[in-house]
Amino acid sequence: MTRVLIVGGGGREHALGWACARGRDDVELIVAPGNGGTARIAENVSLDATDAAAVARLARERAADLVVIGPDAAAAAGVADACFDSGIAVFGPTAAAAHIESSKSFAKALMDDAGIPTARWASGSASDRGRVDAFIDEHNGRCVVKADGLALGKGVVVCESVEAARGAVDACLQEARFGAAGDRVVVEELLAGDEVSVLCVTDGRNVRVLPTSRDHKRAHDGDTGPNTGGMGAVAPMPAAPVDLIVRRVLQPCVDALRERGTPFAGCLYAGIMLTDSGPQVLEFNARFGDPEAQVVLPLLGEPALPLFEACARGGVQPGTAVSRTGCAVGVVAASAGYPASARTGEVIAGLEDVADDVLCFHAGTREHGGGLVTSGGRVLCLTAVADDLASARECAYANISRVRFDGMWYRADIGAVGATALAIGR
Ligand code: AMP
Ligand code: GLY
Repeated sequence: MTRVLIVGGGGREHALGWACARGRDDVELIVAPGNGGTARIAENVSLDATDAAAVARLARERAADLVVIGPDAAAAAGVADACFDSGIAVFGPTAAAAHIESSKSFAKALMDDAGIPTARWASGSASDRGRVDAFIDEHNGRCVVKADGLALGKGVVVCESVEAARGAVDACLQEARFGAAGDRVVVEELLAGDEVSVLCVTDGRNVRVLPTSRDHKRAHDGDTGPNTGGMGAVAPMPAAPVDLIVRRVLQPCVDALRERGTPFAGCLYAGIMLTDSGPQVLEFNARFGDPEAQVVLPLLGEPALPLFEACARGGVQPGTAVSRTGCAVGVVAASAGYPASARTGEVIAGLEDVADDVLCFHAGTREHGGGLVTSGGRVLCLTAVADDLASARECAYANISRVRFDGMWYRADIGAVGATALAIGR
């Protein structure tokens, strides 16, 4: 038996658990805290995923062979460090290595040092914002304002005017809209192009790149409305120059972190804009994306658990991970009010009508009175895998329409031509 402790409680963690156990009957899963979906494939243990000492204690008590860290906040809180101190193998970066996500100014400076292509930028704080204001003026306000720290994907404002950009900076520095995460801001040039997420797994030295994907962060069709945690995702993006991105972005980042004495082991995620002058990094994440994990892992053509173990222990085979043929489309069903708020406690019906070959990853669900009720903004992600994008999309939508809860809504254009030009190799 291999005992795996997955840290987190969203759709990504359900997908991670599913992938670890896929095709195996010798894997025992614990998910902390988990959700209504992980309860069906694992033992859920209720704890705070950012309580590093509690996670390490649980891993010790249960003699976990591997801890898999899902959320950024858990990595930033030092869950990996606490596991190392207890001699437990862990897939996920130390807090120092996770700085690549938890501080955007750290990431930008590292990219500049390592020659990794990224938009020009400036950063500042309330007592020192001269360079930020000058940068906004120089670019006529056409820039992107980002809270430096972790802000649940909501700390980024795309601006087209000086007033808007200054207002976004004020919201961080003066109004503390993102709390301490916005004590420092980064402003950067507005880039144009198609976006792609390129994820790799690494042991701190070797990089093994996973199938490419794209998420849809905006709430409404046509990529309009407020940013969310992600309303759906598609994989792969065949037109993305993966080898170039490994060579110019992922490998240099892994090398730079190792050379600084903070090697990164886990999943390194590069959010890339494919501009006319080549790929440019929008952000690094120190973990699988959510919902990218829900489409990338189903397309992985090699067992996930040995990959994660190799990241933790060393010995990742460099190159491109084996991919299944075909495409994956994942559509997220959200609660009324999301992303501003979320109505919860609604009874979820119709899951038994979802086809057996469609994956139903739970996020905001919990068991209640023998059934399931909603417990968060993003409730479920239904992922269909098929030979081509159109069939995967059709299948995902046919099945999500069988699921019901009061106030449920979802985007209608995940995987649609036009919404994901790269997916069809434009
Ligand atoms: P981030 O969390 O930094 O990836 O930003 C969230 C979203 O904001 C990205 O997925 C992009 O759609 C957009 N974005 C971020 N940086 C830029 C940029 N420099 N130019 C244009 N759009 C950007
Ligand atoms: N889907 C984007 C993220 O997980 O950051």
